[in-house]
Amino acid sequence: MARGVRLVFATLLLLTLLDVCRGSKIGVCYGRNADDLPTPDKVAKLVQLHNIKYLRIYDSNIQVLKAFANTGVELMIGIPNLDLLPFSQFQTNADTWLKNSILPYYPATKIAYITVGAEVTEAPNNVSALVVPAMQNVFTALRKAGLHKKIKVSSTHSLGVLSRSFPPSAGAFNSSHAFFLKPLLEFLSEKESPFMVDLYPYFAYRDNSHNVSLDYALFESSSEVIDPNTGLLYTNMFDAQIDALYYALMALNFGAIKIMVTETGWPSKGSTKETAASPDNAQTYNTNLIRHVINDTGTPAKPGDELDVYIFSLFNENRKPGLESERNWGLFYPGQTSVYKLDFTGRGVVDMTTEANVTSSNGTWCIASSTASEVDLQSALDWACGPGNVDCSAIQPSQPCFEPDNLVSHASYAFNNYYQQNGATDIACGFGGTGYRTNKNPSYDSCLYMTTGSKKTAASNITMSPLTSSSTRKGSSTWICSCLLVTFLAFF
Ligand SMILES: *[C@@H]1O[C@H](CO)[C@@H](O)[C@H](O)[C@H]1NC(C)=O
Ligand SMILES: *[C@@H]1O[C@H](CO)[C@@H](O)[C@H](O)[C@H]1NC(C)=O
Ligand SMILES: *[C@@H]1O[C@H](CO)[C@@H](O)[C@H](O)[C@H]1NC(C)=O
Ligand SMILES: *[C@@H]1O[C@H](CO)[C@@H](O)[C@H](O)[C@H]1NC(C)=O
Ligand SMILES: *[C@@H]1O[C@H](CO)[C@@H](O)[C@H](O)[C@H]1NC(C)=O
Ligand SMILES: *[C@@H]1O[C@H](CO)[C@@H](O)[C@H](O)[C@H]1NC(C)=O
Ligand SMILES: *[C@@H]1O[C@H](CO)[C@@H](O)[C@H](O)[C@H]1NC(C)=O
Repeated sequence: MARGVRLVFATLLLLTLLDVCRGSKIGVCYGRNADDLPTPDKVAKLVQLHNIKYLRIYDSNIQVLKAFANTGVELMIGIPNLDLLPFSQFQTNADTWLKNSILPYYPATKIAYITVGAEVTEAPNNVSALVVPAMQNVFTALRKAGLHKKIKVSSTHSLGVLSRSFPPSAGAFNSSHAFFLKPLLEFLSEKESPFMVDLYPYFAYRDNSHNVSLDYALFESSSEVIDPNTGLLYTNMFDAQIDALYYALMALNFGAIKIMVTETGWPSKGSTKETAASPDNAQTYNTNLIRHVINDTGTPAKPGDELDVYIFSLFNENRKPGLESERNWGLFYPGQTSVYKLDFTGRGVVDMTTEANVTSSNGTWCIASSTASEVDLQSALDWACGPGNVDCSAIQPSQPCFEPDNLVSHASYAFNNYYQQNGATDIACGFGGTGYRTNKNPSYDSCLYMTTGSKKTAASNITMSPLTSSSTRKGSSTWICSCLLVTFLAFF
């Protein structure tokens, strides 16, 4: 028991520590172009249970803003291209929107970014010229409310803003966009807002598979592409695309603007011609992406740099037009089961848990924290036995694990089943902070807890991996983090 309490305490300490040592962030895009998605309230639960901390939405839907109140999830919200005209025309339009659509929900709902327009250079009507005036009005509205330092204003772009992206050092903006890009870059630089870009190595590969290797697009390449101007070696397309943008910014003297990736991902299914769209490739891309980003690897031109990345997308969206792949970018089916398993091993958290020797024995189990609130435990239990697809029959009355008939005991059984079926990573033991791992087998009498590898059924379908975004960070805070880590380890 004493050990259990110590473990809980140490886990809490670890979580605090990870918060202090935050580096690059991984978020997820919550697109809603579908008619079969769960309600925003259910989505908020799903997101929390999977420890997703950063979410991008494409509008300022009130149900969504309300659903994420007091969840700790940080939102990036959007003003759609269709609204750019009113926002650009009159300051009062931006003021009214802020007052009616945002302020009533803030700060209970955390909001860190407002994206004004999305990929305007790809938009059918020529709306580019409206972007900066609209951004300016939104910024002014925020300033009047005293929020311009807390909520950053930017706009997202496709890589199509570049006219050249290879070699990366030759990256350059398309001069036909200069009329709006120049004031945009001045705005971002002045307000210290990031340049937001949506990057899709998938499309680069699909549309040019003769010249681009799949391995290079999936971060799996064993060979390197050399940039003849800089001598830098590129092992993946993602880095090459980011650096192309970075050099394009540098060329205009805006190299200090931070780059943020507001969409990237890989579809799990496509039309017959889209052979690279598969669950395996999607899993490979996103897993490698997370590993690549989470420990602040940076890019060849900016090694060690933090980079915030949003994975597209939370759900498959059945109403998106276009090729089959368009409707298959999700990490989750609308039914909230995961499309493929996302393996997070190699992340900071996992490394530290291993170092702390929680996993050193032959097995690990996931159980419920006795200090978690009843409400949190109940909702995590309901989730595990519902969308989580756990077989909860053993905790029903007269079944072997019904006694002791209490929430902690029942939740422990359900958490562990979920954990074992989903790769036994510490992510699979998140449960919104109510689960923790132990190396002591919790089985008793005839109530047998599943052990690692004991049941593989349906793993490919129900597995999911709650995303976390914390990690250790290099640079100035490494020392502090190491100190805290030592403190953490001392508890074992
Ligand atoms: C879009 O509008 C701007 C300003 O109104 C103009 O300079 C630019 O040439 C237009 N671009 C296209 C592709 O029509
Ligand atoms: C630059 O943008 C214009 C207008 O969108 C487009 O017609 C042209 O093809 C682009 N040039 C390059 C090199 O991408
Ligand atoms: C693809 O490679 C071939 C030969 O290596 C080259 O001739 C062609 O221009 C390349 N195509 C593109 C789009 O880069
Ligand atoms: C973390 O970053 C380093 C480079 O800084 C890289 O070599 C290493 O492979 C990364 N770790 C993982 C798990 O990807
Ligand atoms: C974990 O435990 C094993 C066996 O008890 C030991 O050999 C190993 O050195 C430990 N690892 C760490 C990082 O403490
Ligand atoms: C762990 O497994 C090894 C062999 O796989 C076995 O010899 C050892 O006794 C096991 N240890 C425990 C604590 O079960
Ligand atoms: C996974 O689940 C989806 C929907 O829940 C179903 O359509 C699909 O057939 C399942 N796949 C497997 C391999 O069980």
